[in-house]
Amino acid sequence: MTNASEIKLPENIPEHVAIIMDGNGRWARSRGLPRMAGHRAGVDNLRRIIEAAAEYGIKYLTIYAFSTENWKRPPAEVKGLINILEDVIDRELKSLDENGVQLRHIGRLEQLRPELQAKVKQAIKITEENDRLILNVAWNYGGRDEIVCAIREMIADGIEPEEITESTVGRYLFTSESPDPDLIIRTSGEMRVSNFLIWQGAYSEWYVTKTYWPDFDPEELLEALNVYAQRERRYGRISGKALPR
Ligand code: IPE
Ligand code: IPE
Ligand code: MG
Repeated sequence: MTNASEIKLPENIPEHVAIIMDGNGRWARSRGLPRMAGHRAGVDNLRRIIEAAAEYGIKYLTIYAFSTENWKRPPAEVKGLINILEDVIDRELKSLDENGVQLRHIGRLEQLRPELQAKVKQAIKITEENDRLILNVAWNYGGRDEIVCAIREMIADGIEPEEITESTVGRYLFTSESPDPDLIIRTSGEMRVSNFLIWQGAYSEWYVTKTYWPDFDPEELLEALNVYAQRERRYGRISGKALPR
């Protein structure tokens, strides 16, 4: 691992970085390997990116691991991805915990086997006191599904229409405990949201790279942070550098 003291970090590190980890299949195909080899390489990469994110001072990292639409893939791939989720918890939980990573889940667990649901919940419980890095794992996550769930819950709780504000909605989303993402990274060059954080990303900065996820290394994460540091976030206002005379 790189030594943090040797790295020149920009001053305004984003508090919350979200990543659409895309391109595992193409990474594998370009090497003549089966798609699952790409997903496994993607997990290996995730390990080093989590460590780098913590070193760089990112407080919240949200990773898109399985979308509500990914159930449409061939059953063998879906099964493989579920197995990977289970393997990651079995193999990585100890070291994540030792490294101060707090695991959280966004999305719906209901479609998983009860034992696997319990395993995910237990991992969340074990790491709940950690605060070096909050890792939100988006698994069976879809932004539209999240908003539908929020509306249902607001109605079930008897919230009156006039009580519904943007902050009320925010409190009913899966991400209620995290700030909105400052920076969203998408690997593999696709220029679309793919149902990721569609509410929370309203004013996120984007960094899209052609690099396939398994090859997206800590140096490129640093590059994304440097690009982010140069952005001017205006939120609808006019530029601070171009105030009217
Ligand atoms: C991202 O890689 C991982 C998941 C969506 C689970 P892909 O599997 O989408 O890889 P490509 O886009 O086919 O290359
Ligand atoms: C988005 O990637 C989902 C994840 C990275 C988990 P996809 O590969 O599923 O997105 P599309 O289908 O290309 O939009
Ligand atoms: Mg893809």
